[in-house]
Amino acid sequence: MPTAPPPRVLYGRRRIATRVRSLAKGIDAHYGDRPFTLCGVLTGGVVFASDLARALRNDRIELSFVKASSYGTGRRSTGRVRLELLDRGGIAGREVLVVEDILETGRTLHAVTGALRLGGAVDVRSVVLLRKPGHRAADVDPDWVGFEMTEDAFVAGYGLDAGDRWRNLPDIVVPPEDAR
Ligand code: XMP
Ligand code: MG
Repeated sequence: MPTAPPPRVLYGRRRIATRVRSLAKGIDAHYGDRPFTLCGVLTGGVVFASDLARALRNDRIELSFVKASSYGTGRRSTGRVRLELLDRGGIAGREVLVVEDILETGRTLHAVTGALRLGGAVDVRSVVLLRKPGHRAADVDPDWVGFEMTEDAFVAGYGLDAGDRWRNLPDIVVPPEDAR
């Protein structure tokens, strides 16, 4: 069987680590020593949320997660976002920072921030690691962005999957078209 070519690396692990540290600095500067809830968006945001949480100097952070699904197994958002807030405890009456892997149409982030406000968060900010060019459908404006993607590629790795593969890759890659 011929071996498949390795996926092309778009953002390597060192570049990601450097960017995560500088995002953490900006986020620390914003919150100071105030307690807040870091709300990771599952599943794709789990690696970014874990790295970002450990890069923050603030030690009064509660971790919370929301499960969002809009993709199914395809490569384009279906447009409907299903949400499941996994613990409400850290939301009501608190400042919340949503940590999301990638912004495409913005529907996921829009739905998550809306649900957190409904859940009683007093302030909702957001950080996304990647922002894709174009595609914007929902009116959302993240407070911090890791990388502005210059190419409109489907990416995987660092939490992101292509058909349930590559989530645990340390780099962000462009998987081959036919990869499943
Ligand atoms: P929307 O359109 O709601 O999309 O802003 C954001 C969600 O879609 C997923 N997404 C991707 N997942 N590779 C992935 O593995 C990608 O290139 C990609 N683009 C969008 C992601 O789950 C995100 O939460
Ligand atoms: Mg996915």
